[in-house]
Amino acid sequence: MVLNETLRLYSPAVTVTRQTLEDVQLGDLQIPAKTELYLAFSTVHRDPEMWGEDADEFNPARFTKPRNHLAAFLGFGLGPKTCVGQNLAMVEAKVVLAMLVRRFTFEVSPSYVHAPITLVTLQPQYGAPIILRRTHI
Ligand code: HEM
Repeated sequence: MVLNETLRLYSPAVTVTRQTLEDVQLGDLQIPAKTELYLAFSTVHRDPEMWGEDADEFNPARFTKPRNHLAAFLGFGLGPKTCVGQNLAMVEAKVVLAMLVRRFTFEVSPSYVHAPITLVTLQPQYGAPIILRRTHI
């Protein structure tokens, strides 16, 4: 839930891009062939209609409830081009996190500056300094 909530608020993949092969009707929109479409994940992931008025808040517990829309969460994409590395990425993150919490408590350093930037993927512009403290010797 913590990992999903992190992916929701700060998706490393920022957009997906598609090009229409032919004229298509998408809802009320008439889209000509060969149009490039960009879907920004943040508009979906922070939409209060999808996620409630607290959409900008970090609340992992929101993942205990079923989503109110299939496409409300796009961290690993959706449909035929869904990320093939999704399970590997999640297992890797869980293993690293489990190893860390066994040995350390950690908190964000006061020197952290919140300035996400897109450099292919979404990244912390000035790094993510973290203070680690050993829980036992
Ligand atoms: C946190 C880590 C990751 C995130 C957030 C992520 C995100 C995504 C997203 C959003 C897509 C869909 C792109 C689209 O629809 O155009 C995608 C596709 C893909 N991902 Fe990942 N990914 C991650 C890790 C990985 C890893 C570890 C691998 C390989 C080991 C991987 C391999 C792929 C491949 C091959 C595709 C293309 C699938 C296709 O086009 O059929 N990803 N990923």
